[in-house]
Amino acid sequence: MKIVIGNDHSAVEMKLEIVKYLEELGYEVINIGTDEKTSIDYPSYGFKVGEMVMEGKADLGIAICGTGIGISLAANQVKGIRAFSCSEPYSASLARKHNNANVLCFGARVVGVELAKMIVSSFLEAEFEAGRHEIRVNMIRGYRNEQN
Ligand code: RB5
Repeated sequence: MKIVIGNDHSAVEMKLEIVKYLEELGYEVINIGTDEKTSIDYPSYGFKVGEMVMEGKADLGIAICGTGIGISLAANQVKGIRAFSCSEPYSASLARKHNNANVLCFGARVVGVELAKMIVSSFLEAEFEAGRHEIRVNMIRGYRNEQN
């Protein structure tokens, strides 16, 4: 499975730890940056992670900023993306199982590296359960498609 990962300046060290962890687990990782600590604008990285998933260049995405909030808002602007920010593994797992989320976001200033690894593995190991959940996910997609 191919994972695209992107982040802003607040999450460079966290991102590098997560890349290492993903590679140890056997995932193919596409790191779109930033690898610099100079201040940049998180929306560009949220958009890029979302675009890579929607273009089929990656199966799932991970986007990290200070809180996980800004970058998830940005990723969600890409049509077809279901991004969410979370701080614990239970929600990360259910976001895949019930919401078919395709971009995981979290805050490098909110969670520590070990908790982040648990969040990441819970997200990646879970599978969408479809059934009644698919109806609800399709309702969200349908509403979005009517907007523009
Ligand atoms: C950057 O200082 C910070 O605003 C950003 O990383 C993020 O937390 C935004 O939601």
